[in-house]
Amino acid sequence: MKHIFQKGTDTSKTLLLLHGTGGTEQDLLPLAEIIDKGANILSVRGNILENGMPRFFKRLAEGIFDEEDLVFRTKELNDFLDEVATKYEFPRDNITAIGYSNGANIAASLLFHYKDSLNAAILHHPMVPRRGIELPDLSDKKVFIAAGTNDPICPAQESEDLKSLLEGAGAKVKIHWEDFGHQLTINEVKSAAEWYNN
Ligand code: MLT
Repeated sequence: MKHIFQKGTDTSKTLLLLHGTGGTEQDLLPLAEIIDKGANILSVRGNILENGMPRFFKRLAEGIFDEEDLVFRTKELNDFLDEVATKYEFPRDNITAIGYSNGANIAASLLFHYKDSLNAAILHHPMVPRRGIELPDLSDKKVFIAAGTNDPICPAQESEDLKSLLEGAGAKVKIHWEDFGHQLTINEVKSAAEWYNN
């Protein structure tokens, strides 16, 4: 997968950056600076193109996912993490994903399908990636969700459902609310940084 890797000063920790629809691997680099200056950065571009816009998996319509492709792309990303952890020599078991929108959805999907894919996740405006499946044991995982009370793409109930499903699998989840629709705000990034560093 197309990506950027930057070795950190503390090579034990890696931030996995996953952009929103229409974004690139450049988009979330400033967030990594705010969350953890010292960590390795692995920023990946989604392999799907929807009318020229990169994404991490196909959708049938706005908010309606192509489940088969979601499962396939989640495995592809998980395999890619295995491969690059060896290539760049960083610990595979200490990756924190930071995703926005479609990137948050694929990060949530990694958690939904693979027990040890991520150590933690910061999800900006995520949805429930899939319903009706049993989640792996996530009892040692930490998740921060930034959601919008008035997000037209990810309704508030969807954020609450995601929290409950992750908690049901044993994850520790914190939810942070903003009132700016689907926007990724500096306030929610600062709140994520505080959560990550505590
Ligand atoms: C998705 O397709 O992942 C969600 O609708 C969010 C987005 O528009 O990227």
